[in-house]
Amino acid sequence: MKILVVGGGGREHAIVRALACSNDTEIFSVMAKQNPGISALARDTRLCRETDISRIIAYALESGAEYAFIGPESPLEAGIVDQLEAVNINCVGPTQAAARIETDKAFCRDMMELYNIDGCPKYRVFHNRADAISFIYDHGGDLAIKPIGLTGGKGVRIMGEQVDQEGAVAYVKSLAGGVVLEERLIGEEFTLQAFVDGNHLIPMPLVQDHKRAFEGDTGPNTGGMGSYSMPDHMLPFVSDADYKKALAIMKSTVAALERTGHPYKGILYGQFMNTAGGPKVIEFNARFGDPEAMNVLPLLSSNLADIVIGITEGSLSVTDVTFEQKATVCKYIVPSGYPDSPHPGDPITIKSPEGALVYYANVGEQQGRLSTLTSRTLAFVGIGPTLEEAERIAEKSASAVTGRVRYRRDIGTRALLEQRINHMRELR
Ligand code: AMP
Ligand code: GLY
Repeated sequence: MKILVVGGGGREHAIVRALACSNDTEIFSVMAKQNPGISALARDTRLCRETDISRIIAYALESGAEYAFIGPESPLEAGIVDQLEAVNINCVGPTQAAARIETDKAFCRDMMELYNIDGCPKYRVFHNRADAISFIYDHGGDLAIKPIGLTGGKGVRIMGEQVDQEGAVAYVKSLAGGVVLEERLIGEEFTLQAFVDGNHLIPMPLVQDHKRAFEGDTGPNTGGMGSYSMPDHMLPFVSDADYKKALAIMKSTVAALERTGHPYKGILYGQFMNTAGGPKVIEFNARFGDPEAMNVLPLLSSNLADIVIGITEGSLSVTDVTFEQKATVCKYIVPSGYPDSPHPGDPITIKSPEGALVYYANVGEQQGRLSTLTSRTLAFVGIGPTLEEAERIAEKSASAVTGRVRYRRDIGTRALLEQRINHMRELR
């Protein structure tokens, strides 16, 4: 199989590594800047903006790719799948219309409401700032304030947590486009990702991401500082009933998109808040999570290339998809000052990862020397029979990195897990 992978972060390194496990894949890569991990595995790479669709199509044709795997959301929003399919390249990723599940938060909520999909918080869509501001003043409780369009995971403000009422109003005033205001959900977050072929859905192990920059879940939101998953593919604060409900929500969403005439093909990412009343949808993404891809893909014991065929041909119901029963812990190394004022150009060295997998993300490399750029640098993933073992492996490698970088030591620790479990117990 000749396959083009679009994107150059840790997530795409995980996709490329999983594809490279089968001998008969030939991987081509387009990315905005060189990712040394991807370049080492790909047959050829092209540096190009991930939204420069015409150049990507030209490269896909030139390389003879029969398939494409789209990592990030911005090319999906730009309609890359529609254009690749027009030249007969089969894509793992939704069309522009189906990707609105992520790229247009108003569309997502309105669709959930129209099709009576469970787990939709109370929400209102505002295209006019003055109306949104009056609503904030008139409404009694806390709210989540969400720009309608893509914000790189950093656009949401939670009133009652990050901002007060005046802060919420000031934030709405600062936004250019429309906004969704929704009920603030209280609980524990979890991620459910699935392979989807337009109609059939196959879930992957549950993962918990850590959005906040600092230990103890403090500081500003980031793209995600790290994540973990458990050997039974569940999370200890998610009951069987919660899991079944979350999965049913994902299936209803796929069915609803099919009914709108825009069937969903690719990776569907459900971000859930497990509340006292069960799981509610925080958002859907139209792609793998970053870091969550790095937890699930290394556990895949079946062949990702076969799954690509299953997704694109609509035959997932007869495709073998199995994951090893192991725990994973992923820790991202980030530049000092990340996310508010990241410091680029600092040299870093990594020691032999001692059993941890290393995934490159936003890292400079010259003559084998690594340095920071302005986003998450690289990630270590530990895999083991227990969470403790997986955490020990990831921690050992992360702590051995030298340079002006940092990471969250608490990710994947038993202490943090106990806090989550206790939080859920208090709520129920
Ligand atoms: P998003 O960009 O939609 O993933 O949101 C970023 C973060 O904001 C989420 O991971 C949650 O922690 C938080 N968030 C989003 N929506 C809500 C909500 N309705 N209630 C509480 N927290 C939320
Ligand atoms: N880890 C969150 C995201 O990929 O959106």
